[in-house]
Amino acid sequence: MQISQIFRSSIGKKLLLAITGLSWAGFAVGHFIGNTTLLLKDPTPFNKYAHFLSGLGGALILVELILAASLLVHLFFAIKVTLENRKARPVKYAVSKSAGRESKKGFATSTMIYTGILLIIFLVLHITHFKFGAVYMTTVDGNQIRDLYKTVYEFYADPINTAYYVIMMILLGTHLSHGVWSAFQSLGLNGNRFTPFIYKVGFLVAVIVSVGFIAIPIYIHFTGGAV
Ligand code: HEM
Repeated sequence: MQISQIFRSSIGKKLLLAITGLSWAGFAVGHFIGNTTLLLKDPTPFNKYAHFLSGLGGALILVELILAASLLVHLFFAIKVTLENRKARPVKYAVSKSAGRESKKGFATSTMIYTGILLIIFLVLHITHFKFGAVYMTTVDGNQIRDLYKTVYEFYADPINTAYYVIMMILLGTHLSHGVWSAFQSLGLNGNRFTPFIYKVGFLVAVIVSVGFIAIPIYIHFTGGAV
């Protein structure tokens, strides 16, 4: 099969959606683990971690380019698959519910394209707020480095920003809860015996990441105030 045929075939599109989606899910897990240092009262571990990442230089830019390309491919094929599905079935299901163990029709499934688009808008604003947001400096081990901890704490001192993040992280959980399961299925990882287990793992990852990401702004808002 030629590459162009893979892109045009239904399974090829689903495979690309799965791989690009899982790479973002993996990034979200890593990003969440790193961000847990924001929960410490001492800003130094988080600032050191952020400084270490920015110090990776070319390697960081490479990862950013891979993630950006992955997001564009994910968005492109998500829109394509959604439009094709609508063309194949112009009349919506009267009742949107699961048709059994192997089918996961439901709220998360039917809203994937909408939660996905809202999350991409969130991402652009998110990077603007933090990566390119207010710059403060601090001294760590005799070196002047960025006080990103202060930027984040200042941001979540605002209740509107905190509420906005909580809503977006609920959408992230909804998107991931269906997305991870669906990606595993597209990759053919669901034998009959393991399907319920795989579904549970996907769901658990989505819940841990989104509940964790919800907890960070709430914790900072109620305990941090303006730094
Ligand atoms: C409570 C939730 C979150 C917090 C507190 C948070 C915090 C941050 C901070 C502080 C940065 C700037 C890092 C730097 O400039 O060194 C950042 C960057 C970023 N965040 Fe988040 N984040 C959150 C949720 C998310 C989610 C859900 C995603 C998407 C999966 C995400 C994706 C990104 C991306 C792509 C970057 C840019 C990374 C780079 O280019 O180096 N973040 N985040």
